[in-house]
Amino acid sequence: MSSLSIYKVLYSVYDLLDVVYFRDHDKSPRTAVLKKIKDDDRVLDLCTGTGTNALSIAKAKPLTKIAGIDLSKDMLKVAKDKMKRSGLKNVKFYLMDATKLKFKDSCFDKILISLILHEMEEELADQIIMEAMRVLKDDGKIIITEWEPSDELSKKILFSPIGFLEPKPYKSFVKKDLYSYFEKFGLEIEKYEHCDYTKVIVLTKKK
Ligand SMILES: C[S@@+](CC[C@H](N)C(=O)[O-])C[C@H]1O[C@@H](n2cnc3c(N)ncnc32)[C@H](O)[C@@H]1O
Repeated sequence: MSSLSIYKVLYSVYDLLDVVYFRDHDKSPRTAVLKKIKDDDRVLDLCTGTGTNALSIAKAKPLTKIAGIDLSKDMLKVAKDKMKRSGLKNVKFYLMDATKLKFKDSCFDKILISLILHEMEEELADQIIMEAMRVLKDDGKIIITEWEPSDELSKKILFSPIGFLEPKPYKSFVKKDLYSYFEKFGLEIEKYEHCDYTKVIVLTKKK
């Protein structure tokens, strides 16, 4: 199954991910991402899925303007339904390819790339990062969330379905030296934070 067609099956249960893995609010990568957003930031949530990050920022920071994009109509429908139920007006969701964004150059303060890169062949992941850099302001930040398997036995057991369900690129991506990977795009790591089952990395454009 390709990384996109799997969401035709998973869209209705995708939000269980947060219930199972990210239920501890203080250690959740969602909380770590939210803390990095300023009150009036313009935010792009690439491959937003069911919009969890986008909606949590929109709710906590009403002055932000957030665009969430995804290629899966099913995932976006869940995101849009949640948006309607919440009544939030500062977030919009678009059907769009992350490798061909329909936004102008240098227009976002923060770009989220959450739980995505490990699903892609390197060439596709590279294209997504380059497109993100194009639409990011020069002093903007890219915030990456990626899986980080734990050494704790109970967490290892709970995490095992993830390793099993993830597509082929996952195994090599989790072992990747991310410092040199991001450096090849002219990005540097400003902050590296360990959260439950994940790491959250803040990247800036090298001056
Ligand atoms: C694991 S989900 C991540 C969802 C969300 N970012 C999160 O943190 O929960 C990956 C998402 O990437 C989307 N996706 C994959 N390739 C894409 C592309 N080229 N352009 C836009 N979205 C894409 C999938 O449809 C899916 O919704």
